[in-house]
Amino acid sequence: MNKLEFLEKRKSVRNYKNKQLSAEDKRNLLSMLEAPNLLGEIPGYELVFIEDGPRAAIKLEGFAGYSGVMIEAPHYIAVFAEKKCINMRKSAYEVEDIVLKMMAMEVGSCWISIKDSDSAKVAMGWTDKAELIALVALGYPKEENYFSKLFSNLQHPLINPLKEGYANLNLETKNGMPLREETSSFVYLDTWGNSTGYGELVRRGIDKVYHYLKYAPSWGNRQPWKFIIDKDDIILCIHEDEKLGRINECLDAGIAMYYFKVAMEGHGLRGEWHFDGLDLDYGVPDDYWVAGRFAL
Ligand SMILES: Cc1cc2nc3c(=O)[nH]c(=O)nc-3n(C[C@H](O)[C@H](O)[C@H](O)COP(=O)(O)O)c2cc1C
Repeated sequence: MNKLEFLEKRKSVRNYKNKQLSAEDKRNLLSMLEAPNLLGEIPGYELVFIEDGPRAAIKLEGFAGYSGVMIEAPHYIAVFAEKKCINMRKSAYEVEDIVLKMMAMEVGSCWISIKDSDSAKVAMGWTDKAELIALVALGYPKEENYFSKLFSNLQHPLINPLKEGYANLNLETKNGMPLREETSSFVYLDTWGNSTGYGELVRRGIDKVYHYLKYAPSWGNRQPWKFIIDKDDIILCIHEDEKLGRINECLDAGIAMYYFKVAMEGHGLRGEWHFDGLDLDYGVPDDYWVAGRFAL
């Protein structure tokens, strides 16, 4: 299985077997949590493995999850970083790498947003740590053969994100599967709004890169990305939405950056994300902000 297939097939898991990770899977996961960062130093960044998921879910209820509704799971990873957008973008990039590696171990996961970091930290005795910016639920999916179904393309797993407690959230789905935008609708050439046809992306040899990108997870499946191709630079813009707050916007941005980098590498295109030089005038509207510049 190559990394690109993981990008395309990854799905959030919200129903887990009542079973702890095996000793081997736990060892592998802990070594991933301690591995050096891909993007270097991130102030306050820390990943904490929560062994007793059911107990944590009770303590964190009301403080994390959509509308404060926790996803019950055998374990969680708690993600901390100093509360600056650049730290959150980088942290999300690091954590999404772990999420995909867990998938290769057949461990399911789901990002969980934080509603009230301070209360969650008090409830869990984490008051010495930086901002709690996200949790990731993890464990073995409840549905039998979940991963082989996911990869077979023959039968989709029974995923239904619209469960009780999410009544006010419009997660766009069809037959229980998250809907995805048309690729060419989120890629512009040179300036905001100058839509590329799909043919133009094919001509530049980057059509497939954006194809993978649209499978990146995002808060409420809002798929908040737009890309502006500026010669050899690709500019990532993220939709601002007061409903979810800046932290989740920054996490969505970091995840998209990770997906983009892996998709580019998968097509033999090397480059790096930069967090500076973002103030160029591309005509980006007020409800979007520039999150990064990928330089080939
Ligand atoms: C920053 C972030 C926060 C999220 N928070 C939650 C959450 O609190 N509860 C939840 O059920 N899903 C959460 N999700 C998962 C998204 O709803 C999910 O990724 C999206 O609907 C797309 O579905 P998929 O991951 O199955 O492709 C979150 C995702 C991201 C990226």
